[in-house]
Amino acid sequence: APQLPDILSPEFAADPYPAYAVMREREPLIWHEATRSYIVSRYEDVERIFKDKKSEFTTDNYDWQLEPVHGRTILQMSGREHAVRRALVAPAFRGSDLREKFLPVIERNSRELVDTFRAAGSADIVSDYATRFPVNVIADMLGLDKADHARFHGWYTAVIAFLGNLAGDPDVTAAGERTRVEFADYMIPVIKERREKPGDDLLSTLCAAEVDGVRMSDEDIKAFCSLLLAAGGETTDKAIAGILANLLTHPEQLAAVRADRSLIPAAFAETLRYTPPVHMIMRQSAVDVEVSGGTIPAGATVTCLIGAANRDERRFSHPDRFDIFRDDLSTTSAFSAAADHLAFALGRHFCVGALLAKAEVETGVNHLLDAMPDLRLADGFDPVEQGVFTRGPQSLPVRFTPVTA
Ligand code: HEM
Repeated sequence: APQLPDILSPEFAADPYPAYAVMREREPLIWHEATRSYIVSRYEDVERIFKDKKSEFTTDNYDWQLEPVHGRTILQMSGREHAVRRALVAPAFRGSDLREKFLPVIERNSRELVDTFRAAGSADIVSDYATRFPVNVIADMLGLDKADHARFHGWYTAVIAFLGNLAGDPDVTAAGERTRVEFADYMIPVIKERREKPGDDLLSTLCAAEVDGVRMSDEDIKAFCSLLLAAGGETTDKAIAGILANLLTHPEQLAAVRADRSLIPAAFAETLRYTPPVHMIMRQSAVDVEVSGGTIPAGATVTCLIGAANRDERRFSHPDRFDIFRDDLSTTSAFSAAADHLAFALGRHFCVGALLAKAEVETGVNHLLDAMPDLRLADGFDPVEQGVFTRGPQSLPVRFTPVTA
């Protein structure tokens, strides 16, 4: 049997897809010593673990990962505690709140960023746009002072570095722990203020939310906002960079999308399948579970490889080809798309921000295409992805003829 590369090795980080293919084919359930977890790579198995119809899995494994930087968040919760928390936060991310309050925030923040480079004729989609837009949107949705956005961005950077600190760099760990304190020192007084003087913002909505007589404490709300930095910032950042990278490297599909913007949802869904921002999600088994002919013992950590499942040839035809016209992926809404690709997970923890992310990416792609009519990659540039747990283009230098409006 071919040697499986270590998922923490540089070869794997450079290109995980060949290793994913070997795992799916020969070792669909494999014990991985370095992460001390069982790795699952086939679509059918990852889908089943996410759906978790028989409540065989928990997210208790998130405690050690998230607690030091966020405190207790919705992701660590299970059962009734999770269901109540979910009901408290979810309405703010769909329906009239999304349409009426937050779509204008998305539009405004995207335009502000595009205006910073539209006259230049060149930009880096990653550093000038993608890494800024979703974090600005979250800060603005929360109703934070514009003057504080730079600090908010600093916390975002520290949190992302903390969560991605595979090598265990002690400086990164210390900065992450400091961020938890600074973030609380900043947010708790703002939360108290909004309780007294509510506005039209997300923070006020979270303060007022009530389900079965349960409301969120200041600490609960602060932890949720902290989670949004990673859950809503880094993921959407990589999705925007990803859709642009995929289209720019497939110019005929870019031309089709430019000519018919109703293809953007298909390009988004296919990007989430082909290059998902989150490649790995962990769960903990509550009981012994049979998967792909093997047994995961109770109490084990399980790594679900979204990046491998989304390229499973048992589920998708020509899975290694980016094809916005494929007919085995539904694209009409974030929710139906989720039944096909696993980038938002499935089941109880299915991404609460899926519709928000979709609105951000669709708005962003439209604005970028409008501002850059002959958008192309800088000469000779070939996009390189980086990251293991989360993954996306490192940089994306582009050229275009500036339009002076
Ligand atoms: C959950 C991916 C955008 C907020 C998740 C999960 C995934 C995911 C895979 C499930 C985690 C698990 O089951 O362990 C993504 C991707 C995004 C995105 C790929 C962008 C394309 C957003 C946005 C927000 C958000 C914009 C909000 C601002 C959340 C929250 C959860 C979550 C709060 C936890 C839900 C729960 O535990 O019930 N996301 N996400 N996400 N996402 Fe997203």
